[in-house]
Amino acid sequence: MNRRTLLATLSGAALQLQAQKRDMIIHNSRQEGYEMPLAGFKDYITPVEHFFVRSHHLTPKIELDSWKLEVKGHVDGALTLSMADLKAMKPVEMVAVLECAGNGRGFYEPSMPGLQWEHGSVGNARWRGVRLADVLKRVGVKPGAKHVLFDGADVPVGTQPEFQRTIPIEKAMDPNTLLAFDMNGAALPASHGFPLRVIAPGWAGDSWVKWVTRIEVLDKEFEGFFMKTGYRHPGKGMQPGVPVKPEEMKPVEAIQVKSVIASIGPKVSGAAWAGEKAVATVEVSVDRGRSWKAAKITSPRTPFGWVTWEFDWQPPSGYYVVMARAHDTWGRTQPMAQEWNPSGYQWNAIHQVASVTAPVAQAPAIEPPAVYKATCVGCHDEGPVRKQRLSRAQWEAEVGKMQRWGAPVKPETKDELLNYLTSRFGYRHR
Ligand code: HEC
Repeated sequence: MNRRTLLATLSGAALQLQAQKRDMIIHNSRQEGYEMPLAGFKDYITPVEHFFVRSHHLTPKIELDSWKLEVKGHVDGALTLSMADLKAMKPVEMVAVLECAGNGRGFYEPSMPGLQWEHGSVGNARWRGVRLADVLKRVGVKPGAKHVLFDGADVPVGTQPEFQRTIPIEKAMDPNTLLAFDMNGAALPASHGFPLRVIAPGWAGDSWVKWVTRIEVLDKEFEGFFMKTGYRHPGKGMQPGVPVKPEEMKPVEAIQVKSVIASIGPKVSGAAWAGEKAVATVEVSVDRGRSWKAAKITSPRTPFGWVTWEFDWQPPSGYYVVMARAHDTWGRTQPMAQEWNPSGYQWNAIHQVASVTAPVAQAPAIEPPAVYKATCVGCHDEGPVRKQRLSRAQWEAEVGKMQRWGAPVKPETKDELLNYLTSRFGYRHR
């Protein structure tokens, strides 16, 4: 373990303790994956301790004195900027929703690998920084520029490819796209990208690169793993099991119109957002979708932030189901049942809360074989494995991926490993 990795590990552990204090759902404490509980949808501005975290690599510990931002590529003159240089520029403040592309993945049937987020990999914060376009104007973008690449100081484990993302030049030059140094009135916390992250309002979190140290203007598409393989979707519902041709997949960009119920009594309350468009109305149904009544918006409305809402209703003593749906200013609304896509992105089916939920039987506990602990715990903890519910074929593909990223899988124990993974973390037992 080199010094950089060690420091990264330590800061991850510190954040875990902080997160546990506020009841976060912990998916992984190494590559930090913390989910906000439903109660968080009552807040207009999500406090940092409650704000979800999703990191692909280990969190770097960055000293501001040695941090620099390189801006280069297809430009007239490359520049290296310090935080003081950025802070001398015109500041911009914005309330915006950050939502993980995989928020809701845990609800898809059939299930697929990936962190099994339920509702809470989303939050609403006040960001402060400078316009990316202002920084790009300083270096002079040459004609023919197509994409802008962001690279962060985070540290991959094993041979996992580096998390690098590009956004199209039009989104980069949009006056709402920022490079932020503050979150909710203070410097960005380490887990949220200190000292600088991208704010791509209306777009999913994969474009909001953290710990940015390099911005590169490209005159062609970027070939990196997290653009060409990760974070792509067909943009429409697919039949499970039918392979999608790579040319039919495109990068995940705008997030969907969506509302989530935070609590039922004494009032029904929640939050709603709509990506690049604004929420027009939020409606609640207490008769299983036969009729819908408008909820009251209880927060300010901003172009990219979420709204909080309330609805007067007293739950009866017996069984009930409450549903909420949002409409946006484009006239889009949420589906009653979700269409399926291969990586489980952009879940936005209508949220339903019932007074009693059907119990889901736990798979029987099985003693893990030694080969499991020796092969699968280390680069990450057990969190990402434990929440999966995959078929044997899916586990075989997943173990193959881990092997390519450095997991020491041996042919003679692979069967034992797959037997365990499939029986312990297989399809949900109903
Ligand atoms: C060499 C390091 C390494 C080892 C060893 C390892 N993994 Fe992983 N694993 C990773 C990385 C890196 C990720 C992705 C982290 C992220 O993006 O959040 C990951 C993510 C996962 C995920 C989440 C879904 C996904 O594909 O991102 C599952 C499930 C998983 N690993 C299962 C396993 C199993 C089962 C084993 C044992 C065969 C294993 N891992 C061993 C590096 C490793």
